[in-house]
Amino acid sequence: MLVLGIESSCDETGVAVVQVHGAQAPVLLAHALHSQIDMHQAYGGVVPELASRDHIRRVLPLTEKVLQDSGRGLDEVDVVAYTRGPGLAGALLVGAGVACALGAALRKPVLGVHHLEGHLLSPFLSADPPQFPFVALLVSGGHTQLMRVEGVGRYELLGETIDDAAGEAFDKSAKLMGLGYPGGPALSKLAQQGSATAFKLPRPLLRSGDLDFSFAGLKTAVLTQAKKLGDELEARKADLAASTEAAIVEVLVKKTLAALDATGLQRVVVAGGVGANRLLREQLDAECAKRRVRVHYPELHLCTDNGAMIAMAAAMRLQSGMQAATGVYAFDVKPRWPLAELSALI
Ligand code: KG4
Ligand code: ZN
Repeated sequence: MLVLGIESSCDETGVAVVQVHGAQAPVLLAHALHSQIDMHQAYGGVVPELASRDHIRRVLPLTEKVLQDSGRGLDEVDVVAYTRGPGLAGALLVGAGVACALGAALRKPVLGVHHLEGHLLSPFLSADPPQFPFVALLVSGGHTQLMRVEGVGRYELLGETIDDAAGEAFDKSAKLMGLGYPGGPALSKLAQQGSATAFKLPRPLLRSGDLDFSFAGLKTAVLTQAKKLGDELEARKADLAASTEAAIVEVLVKKTLAALDATGLQRVVVAGGVGANRLLREQLDAECAKRRVRVHYPELHLCTDNGAMIAMAAAMRLQSGMQAATGVYAFDVKPRWPLAELSALI
């Protein structure tokens, strides 16, 4: 079975082809990505209407490319998968519209995929895939969640952010330091030249006793510190970046360890864009090694949004019998869609 996956929830158009052989692990044949970062950079963040228009321009050329790269024809596609939500409504509609049009034209079923499930299952595309069950730390631009994952579609929310996501904390802090958009990678790079202990920043909810996060106060503390520095900010930027990164990472690592304690599980999967962060990987690896806990990450280039994770999630859903692809081409999208709701589809 050949699954074509289309991702268009935010500022990246991604298309991929995954091959499924019975119950064997699905194999990624090809994937292609177009990032809109350059286009949105001038505005300091994603402009939804521009994002939708660009997805329209990119999605078919990318589809042609992945089919060519995989050596397959469009007529060989068995299922067309697309990101149904959460994300920007207009952007999602582009992927959903194209997927359903392709499905209808080919007379093949379509399957709407949850974007966060795509991130969550993206480590299964790596050479060393995890085994269920595990604790998942989902850290993307819009979400920060700890989940207990028993299997495909079996997700229990353990805790989440009550305000900003970790990615947002990176992005907003970077923005006020003039580091552009998206700020996470730039802030992390600059942090390598600074001191993580230069500024005392809060570790919100670190000792709250639950598995929730809060990053809005940290962002305000970074803003206050930046204002206090005034003209000195430029000279101390690397120190402020390092201190900010250390605060975010410490909270993410400690809460993940608390989730392991609470569940008794011995395996962690980190997924989402912030999962590419070097310090997070270093500290989580070190802490988990002490406890003999295995940590799995997606391959670096598959941490941020891509079509491969959507095709993979669709393939794994179909394999597990969790969800059937449908021949219904009247589509809708779900801009707001809690991941835990997926369990109701079982
Ligand atoms: O998962 P993703 O591509 O998009 C969403 O689904 O939201 O995540 C994007 C987020 C952005 O906030 C970006 O700044 C952050 O991931 N990010 C990083 C790094 N690479 C991406 N944050 C910190 N360090 C990085 N190396
Ligand atoms: Zn994402």
